Amino acid sequence: MLSWEDYYKDEAPVKKEETNKPEPRLSEVTETKTVQEQTVQTETVTAPESETLVTEDMNSEAMQNLENYTTMKEPTEAELEKVRERMANALEGRVQVGQKAMINSKADLNQLVPFKYKWAWEKYLDGTANHWMPQEINMTADIALWKSDDGLTEDERTIVKRSLGFFSTADSLVANNIVLAVYKHITNPECRQYLLRQAFEEAIHTHAYQYCVESLGMDEGEIFNMYREVPCVEAKAAWGLKYTQALEDPTFETGTPEKDKEFLANLIAYYCVLEGMFFYCGFSQILSMGRRNKMTGVSEQFQYIMRDESMHVNFGIDVINSIINENPSLWDEEMKKRASDMIVEGTQLEIDYARDTMPRGVLGMNAKTMEEYLKYVCNRRLTQINLPEAYPGADNPFPWMSEIMDLRKEKNFFETRVIEYQVGGSLKFDD
Ligand SMILES: [Fe+2]
Ligand SMILES: [Fe+2]
Repeated sequence: MLSWEDYYKDEAPVKKEETNKPEPRLSEVTETKTVQEQTVQTETVTAPESETLVTEDMNSEAMQNLENYTTMKEPTEAELEKVRERMANALEGRVQVGQKAMINSKADLNQLVPFKYKWAWEKYLDGTANHWMPQEINMTADIALWKSDDGLTEDERTIVKRSLGFFSTADSLVANNIVLAVYKHITNPECRQYLLRQAFEEAIHTHAYQYCVESLGMDEGEIFNMYREVPCVEAKAAWGLKYTQALEDPTFETGTPEKDKEFLANLIAYYCVLEGMFFYCGFSQILSMGRRNKMTGVSEQFQYIMRDESMHVNFGIDVINSIINENPSLWDEEMKKRASDMIVEGTQLEIDYARDTMPRGVLGMNAKTMEEYLKYVCNRRLTQINLPEAYPGADNPFPWMSEIMDLRKEKNFFETRVIEYQVGGSLKFDD
């Protein structure tokens, strides 16, 4: 174990007679010398023995290191001034909280601390505490049910296939949007830390759908191509994709009101609509199935995914609100209308999806009750970014979803709501 004694030895002053002949710089060492020989050469500079001070060779490699400040026992004013100047330059590069911003910050992105957005760091910690893997969930009962002739109705089978079909692509779209469109333009390291965690969670979600498809022996080509071949699935995927494409131009940069608004629109599209709306019909359908003791493995996979998604949405909303707070001019009437229209448009696509996947009542729900539920979710997304409700009076016909989905308990910095998270552990239905 290192002690202060060890440091003291390392920092002993340089021998005068040794430094009269300047030590060669690493770059000056001939190429024929071995790495070991080169190491010996440099060590003589930093580990001298004598207590004699070096004062005349101020330009040597050794004296240019700030660490050598401690070797100067009687420094001249000129020497001290040089050290002060170097220290000032070094400190100037240290990021201050006031320099940090969600977008368009010029502060060094490699310095995680000091934190400006503690909620982002806390969400990163919560995300890591929630780690899970698809293979941990027992799929045996699902396999038997899926393969039995009379285990599920045709409508129930359609719901399972459509859900896996939509989500398998949607999570890839979200992951790609984070990595290829969002990450670059979020100029805050603690938020980037969470984005990296979120991107990994999206990979786990895609893995979970693949695991379900493989376990149940489904036609993987059919499931993974639904976003191209089934109109109500295609409509949702295409809606999200166009917001990624808007930022796909490699020359796209934030920094002007027009570009900042485009970036904000991407965040609203993905966090408020794609993750905050498009997942909700499928989630409630699969969870309803689980509550009826059908496809319990798939349902449990979806519950773990929902727990992650709940946090993704709240992180995104916190990011959106932070950008608006820091750049209030972006949130003008035009942008507010655009945001509201986007969320309402997304709600309509999800209602269409509900009608297509539930032509008849199934699992204690139908297209009408789902529409009411989606309007309730829509109101919530709008109010979370301080916009008026689009469907005043819409109620939640699936209160059990709130219990599981945590719509009422989700953690959001601007609302200071709290939900308990835990590592792994089995998820239980409340009723
Ligand atoms: Fe996801
Ligand atoms: Fe997500």
